[in-house]
Amino acid sequence: MPSITSVSIAPSILSADFGRLAEEIAAVEEAGADLIHIDVMDGHFVPNITIGPLVVKAVKKAAKRPLDVHLMIANPNLYIDAFADAGADWLTVHVESGPHPHRLVGQIRARGCRPGLVLNPATPLTTLDYLLDEVDLVMLMSVNPGFGGQKFIESSLRKIAALRQEADRRELALDIEIDGGVAATTITRIAAAGANIFVAGSAIYGANDYRAAIQKLRTTAQTAIAATQEEAA
Ligand code: DX5
Ligand code: ZN
Repeated sequence: MPSITSVSIAPSILSADFGRLAEEIAAVEEAGADLIHIDVMDGHFVPNITIGPLVVKAVKKAAKRPLDVHLMIANPNLYIDAFADAGADWLTVHVESGPHPHRLVGQIRARGCRPGLVLNPATPLTTLDYLLDEVDLVMLMSVNPGFGGQKFIESSLRKIAALRQEADRRELALDIEIDGGVAATTITRIAAAGANIFVAGSAIYGANDYRAAIQKLRTTAQTAIAATQEEAA
């Protein structure tokens, strides 16, 4: 049973028009975005190259909302300072990116950013056994990271539900963020399973009306959470 009712919508700028990035950020903020999700890819950890600290710094100037910076890079420990300096508010790192995720969380916290751990679709939740009490945010990938516009992987739903159950068992007010394939057609099941922060790239930037797209995602998620809680009561 999801124990968190607050819903946040985080548009991923990966699907924005990079030639008009500042305008694209202002547009989703005016349309109701809670966070700005930034996908950092290095061509090693994932098969795509996107943006680095310089662009994050430029985005920080344009944005009013917190920056949710998703690091899909090898050796993230070497770049935490650079992204913190650039203005990242949240820094999420993959447990698969190196042997010391516990140390990374401490490194991020020491820089005053909010740390979160990310799991790829094939990574089991057991990797969090000794980490879950160290963070208040876990992001589950519901596509293989690297590209926007991919199809939602259905097994993510079981994983979300199991994570929410484990968080509740430990009495943790965990934020569960979902990244990949979030759309009006999938968000009901994602929210009902226990997620409360929703990253959406193509579903928002691919829409003609950003406000309508964000509103639809938010109300659909809220309705699903309310229904699940009613069922459980
Ligand atoms: C994928 C990125 C996602 C991506 C999501 O590696 O981490 O944030 O932008 O795109 P959509 O919402 O289109 O699946
Ligand atoms: Zn992402």
